[in-house]
Amino acid sequence: MKELIVAESAAFAAGKIAMKYFQEELTIKKKGKIDLVTNVDIECEQKIKKVISEEFRKHSFLGEESGKDGNSEYVWIIDPIDGTTNFAHGLDNFSHSIALAKNNELICGVVYNPVQKKMFKAYTGKGAFLNGKKIKVSSTQTVVDSLVVTGFPYENDSLGEKAVSSVRRLRGNCQGIRRFGSAALDFCYIAQGVMDAYFEYDLKSWDAAAGMLIAREAGAKVTDINGNEASLDTTHFLASNGKIHDEIMKYLERV
Ligand code: IPD
Ligand code: CA
Ligand code: CA
Repeated sequence: MKELIVAESAAFAAGKIAMKYFQEELTIKKKGKIDLVTNVDIECEQKIKKVISEEFRKHSFLGEESGKDGNSEYVWIIDPIDGTTNFAHGLDNFSHSIALAKNNELICGVVYNPVQKKMFKAYTGKGAFLNGKKIKVSSTQTVVDSLVVTGFPYENDSLGEKAVSSVRRLRGNCQGIRRFGSAALDFCYIAQGVMDAYFEYDLKSWDAAAGMLIAREAGAKVTDINGNEASLDTTHFLASNGKIHDEIMKYLERV
């Protein structure tokens, strides 16, 4: 499990950088109309890659800010800051998300919130952990008793409309619908059992890779929005405790 130890050290190193800048002066640029990137996203990605490549010199990377790098069967999938909008506004719900896949199959993943000092981690087949303690999904049996989390895409209006329409259908039929702003953490909240279902349209592999493994290892069901088993190529996700999966799908817009 050296991979997981290295992933954790890379996330801690990124966390150190993020904490130096959190609620301080940042350089913020726009990638699109509302999609932000800061100097800290770039610095964190460079640091994460450096820590990993010192231990695994031949492995490849897929990072949100620097793209593809290398052609190994082992690929580290990195979102240096997931929840950049929160980070840029000084809100503490953001994370560093790092996963390792071999031939497109997930091996391990970590999601770290450095402000709240929460380290979620998982290794395929070995369970999921929050700060070293094993976690598992909730036991909620019905949608009407469930707490749901979602997110909205920055760019794609038609998928944004589908998300809004799903929210409209679900509202009043579950205990609440939250939008926290870090997809990686949203998956981890399912793993931790504090949320019962999470759906989001139009995610990228770096948003989902580590979180989906952590959720699965905690007993979650993770599918695409149509109910098919999710993979690293999936973009529209539903993750749940498994028990309410089929029922909640009835409220969600298919793609
Ligand atoms: C975003 C967050 C957000 C989700 C967006 C993502 P970023 O990632 O995960 O929760 O709704 O779709 O793009 O841009 O902060 O890395
Ligand atoms: Ca992201
Ligand atoms: Ca990001």
